[in-house]
Amino acid sequence: MVLSIESSCDDSAIAITEIATNKLLFHKKISQEIEHSVYGGVVPELAARLHAEALPKILEQCEPYFKELKAVAVTSTPGLAVTLVEGVTMAKAIAVALDIPIIGVNHLIGHIYSLFIEKETVFPLTVLLVSGGHTQVMEVKNLQEIETIAKSMDDSFGESFDKVAKMMGLGYPGGPVIQELAKNGDRLAHNFTVPLHQSPLIAFSYSGLKNAVRLAVLEEEKKEQPDFQDIAASFEHIATKHLTMKLKKYFKTVQPKTFAIVGGASANLYLRSQIEALLKPHNAKLLLSELKYCSDNAAMIGRVATDMYKENMFSSLEELDIAPRSSL
Ligand code: KG4
Ligand code: ZN
Repeated sequence: MVLSIESSCDDSAIAITEIATNKLLFHKKISQEIEHSVYGGVVPELAARLHAEALPKILEQCEPYFKELKAVAVTSTPGLAVTLVEGVTMAKAIAVALDIPIIGVNHLIGHIYSLFIEKETVFPLTVLLVSGGHTQVMEVKNLQEIETIAKSMDDSFGESFDKVAKMMGLGYPGGPVIQELAKNGDRLAHNFTVPLHQSPLIAFSYSGLKNAVRLAVLEEEKKEQPDFQDIAASFEHIATKHLTMKLKKYFKTVQPKTFAIVGGASANLYLRSQIEALLKPHNAKLLLSELKYCSDNAAMIGRVATDMYKENMFSSLEELDIAPRSSL
């Protein structure tokens, strides 16, 4: 078995996965959403302190598995430096105490492998990763051959939902609340510009849309009874249209065969429906993670680790370090 730890942002999670079968034997996650909600976003130092409390509590529950552990895996990149270090330090202590090898896992590859929890891998795959930290398209040949095709130049898709929710005073995380608010709104009420719609670049940008939404929110707040439903619906529509327009452009050169959406924001139902419609004429298959594994978790890290274990992709205990910025 492998024990895996995730602490790259605001979720403390540990999983135990059977190496031979990829079976998930244990998974526990403690989220910090309520604690960060008052600030409208994640406060790194607060997150680190909460990890330091939560991780040992979860680890205690894993004790019955200790004798069976063949390796310990941990998210070492990308993420918040002060929170990554909590997981990596714990993983190193476990590796030393139990005399087992350590595996440093890339969080973004973790999100890709959230598709394969208790399943076999399916490659090659075109992946859209939409999370709080990233918005990127990748061509994934296998665990070791991943090419990034497009990235966000500024904010990420999920982050823009968080910021819009903050403007409306709706707390953190913004994705689920904006999705809920948008359900009864008019998607065409506000004619926000689709980011980079005239640019030939296959890239993403959300800062301009965020500022346009800010102006609409300020305007709405002047009313006696402000109602943000239409703004939320129009924002969700344009944020999604930006992704589908750029993907449509990309699909002109590379036909999608198997396409996946992963990351916390892949839970968004409007995004899922729009991507489904986009893939239809290509007869491409759409893969999605189970809703409970879209957001950060340790089961996905454990699932990458079972494949890395089989490929002997271990890290050196002395050299394994955190790398806050993404290398994909
Ligand atoms: O993958 P994740 O848990 O953490 C990162 O690796 O960043 O993603 C969290 C992000 C947050 O920005 C959150 O607002 C967004 O995913 N999110 C959503 C939805 N559910 C979560 N965004 C849009 N619609 C949703 N339904
Ligand atoms: Zn994530």
